[in-house]
Amino acid sequence: MEESHFVLPHATPLDIAGKVGWQAPSNIALIKYWGKKKNQIPANPSLSFTLSSSLTATQLEYTPLEQKAAGYSYDFLFEGKENKSFRPKIDSFLNRISPYLPFLKEYHFRIESSNSFPHSSGIASSASAFAALASCFMELEKKIDPGMDEEFFYQKASFLARLGSGSACRSMRGPMMMWGEHEDYEGSSDLYAVEYPYEIDPVFRDFQDAILLVHKGEKSVSSTTGHGLMEGHRYAGNRFEQANSNLSLIRNVLKEGDLDKFVEIVESEALSLHAMMMTSIPYYLLMKPNTLEIIERIWRYRRDTGLHLCFTLDAGANVHLLFPAQEAEKTNIFINDELLQFCEDRSVLKDRVGSGARSIS
Ligand code: DP6
Repeated sequence: MEESHFVLPHATPLDIAGKVGWQAPSNIALIKYWGKKKNQIPANPSLSFTLSSSLTATQLEYTPLEQKAAGYSYDFLFEGKENKSFRPKIDSFLNRISPYLPFLKEYHFRIESSNSFPHSSGIASSASAFAALASCFMELEKKIDPGMDEEFFYQKASFLARLGSGSACRSMRGPMMMWGEHEDYEGSSDLYAVEYPYEIDPVFRDFQDAILLVHKGEKSVSSTTGHGLMEGHRYAGNRFEQANSNLSLIRNVLKEGDLDKFVEIVESEALSLHAMMMTSIPYYLLMKPNTLEIIERIWRYRRDTGLHLCFTLDAGANVHLLFPAQEAEKTNIFINDELLQFCEDRSVLKDRVGSGARSIS
């Protein structure tokens, strides 16, 4: 499918004011997107669990302008307060999506957004934020073009969210989303994420994610910078191959409910991601000593109990603990007794696999 598929053909914008609202969850990648080409095209395909309670809720009020604006006319409020620091990111998002939503300059927008998780938690909120905002714009497009079907709505919302932040395209639906073309996955696309198309053993449908907040501050190197450092990276080719081959491997693992193999793929992906950071030029480290303490203890716990707790990492020091719901009772005790001591203020966000974005209009 071509990008042109997502250009709204000439349609008359609404001449009345209104309001729409959407909430979207964050997601956690099992197979990591790391490295990109022009226009937010991923260098390799990725796969994620959609989360459930780590959410952004966004309200979009639109008021038709008397005259088309030269730039974009909008106010942005975060957690009830005007927030200018987000404007450069929103401007760049609006610029990227405007060829597909030609009505953007016909309105004044008031965008109000809030997160269910603390802003300074070190949890990336760009995935949930851009997925929620893209969904709001799609609901407005649907009002202008009411014939649109549900599949197109979600596909284009994912396409638009990707232009805000790559990983955001995987937050539209659940429980698992795949983004990026892969020869074993019919229907996979670089332009938007699709629901994981094959059989998933029930054990993965209610997987738990306890997010350990090891470091709440801003990270020293942003994801966008990190993606950029994959260009000309000496191990880039091998890394992209690894991600592709893990996607081939995980298909049977998900079908069979093979938890041992799942743990191996997921942890190897997380450590390979961080290995890419450590071997970039300039090289950098986002894990903290406590990240490593936690990893060591997870490995010991697995050896001692035979249970299937595993970890994954985003581009930061925090640790996502993934485990099956049927092991939650024992594992939660272990988390409280042994792992919370390594978190800032003993903070943890308890989440689980979820089903994606929904309207709160
Ligand atoms: C390590 O989606 O945050 O979390 O497209 O530049 O906004 P941009 O990057 P972003 O990168 C996420 C990287 C990751 C892995 C992943 O989520 O797949």
